[in-house]
Amino acid sequence: ILPNNVTIIEVGPRDGLQNEKVHVDEQDKLAFIAALQKAGISEMELTSFVSPKWVPQMADAKEIVGKSARIGRQFVLAPNAKGAELALEVGARSIAVFVGVSNSFNKKNINRSTDESMNALEPVITKLKEHGIFVRACISTAFYCPYEGKIEPKEVVALCERFVAMGANELSVADTIGMANPRESYDLFKLLKEKLPDVLMTAHFHDTRKMAMANIFASLQAGIDRFDTSAGGLGGCPFAPGATGNVATEDVVHMLDTLGIKTGVDVKKVCEAVALIAPHVSRPIETGMYKLFVNN
Ligand code: HMG
Ligand code: MG
Repeated sequence: ILPNNVTIIEVGPRDGLQNEKVHVDEQDKLAFIAALQKAGISEMELTSFVSPKWVPQMADAKEIVGKSARIGRQFVLAPNAKGAELALEVGARSIAVFVGVSNSFNKKNINRSTDESMNALEPVITKLKEHGIFVRACISTAFYCPYEGKIEPKEVVALCERFVAMGANELSVADTIGMANPRESYDLFKLLKEKLPDVLMTAHFHDTRKMAMANIFASLQAGIDRFDTSAGGLGGCPFAPGATGNVATEDVVHMLDTLGIKTGVDVKKVCEAVALIAPHVSRPIETGMYKLFVNN
């Protein structure tokens, strides 16, 4: 049985741009965000409060949050107490923390072991909850790690349970390097839904091996009705070698449209948003629906 409604969490302005080598101007990011809001996106990751030395593209996080229209739930990422502090200062109401199940990946991404990150985040989440902040926890390398290989589902469950105990409102469980297959996607999300029925559960697929769309269909069957997607299929973590773009918003929404599943998102308007950012990124945009849009 498939859900009647699905929530799309647009991650293009954050995951889509963080790995972009060419500097994207603040104005072009803001225009991209505004066009996505116009397309009906009601939840979006705007930017990250991370070290500008580590991720120069996100150095304008403060301006991006300050100058974006407040529509729906707008996330900013924060890896640590400093990031959470900066996010609170600009008035963010929804904050996403992130940790890798794999220790090796977490060290490359956040310069801490997974346990060190979790211990440091515990008081951070407590504080955010005291401020009434919606806390999303992004779980990287939930299927495979570029350094450690296959990740055991029980490790993912344990990390997710710990986040829920800390007070996270949502878990976004990620196939960081696009290696999961539909059976693994179904099995992990079925297990997570059974273990943690009361937390919002979101799936985050990268499309490195072109299995993301199949993984989304498998996850729908496991009861998932929230998906992170990126307009234009942009995306990738700078510290996960071999990871390419996220599954494309326009292609996912189109598939859901054809299945009669409502998202509130307009495919054509997403393509218009993609057309705005396309001239400013170095990667060619080759998603199915965007190519049709450009050729029509
Ligand atoms: P570190 O070097 O260990 O940091 O990096 P530190 O705590 O030792 O501090 C060093 C300097 O950074 C200090 O400044 C701090 O103030 C500053 P200095 O005294 O040298 O001038 N600093 C910060 N500045 C701004 N914002 C902050 C911050 N924290 C410290 N939050 C750190 C540790 C976490 C900072 C670094 O590793 C980092 O920024 N990592 C971010 C990596 C990242 O953005 N990755 C991509 C996002 S995750 C992702 O894409 C996966 C996801 O899509 C799901 C999936 O697909 O798997 C979510
Ligand atoms: Mg990602």
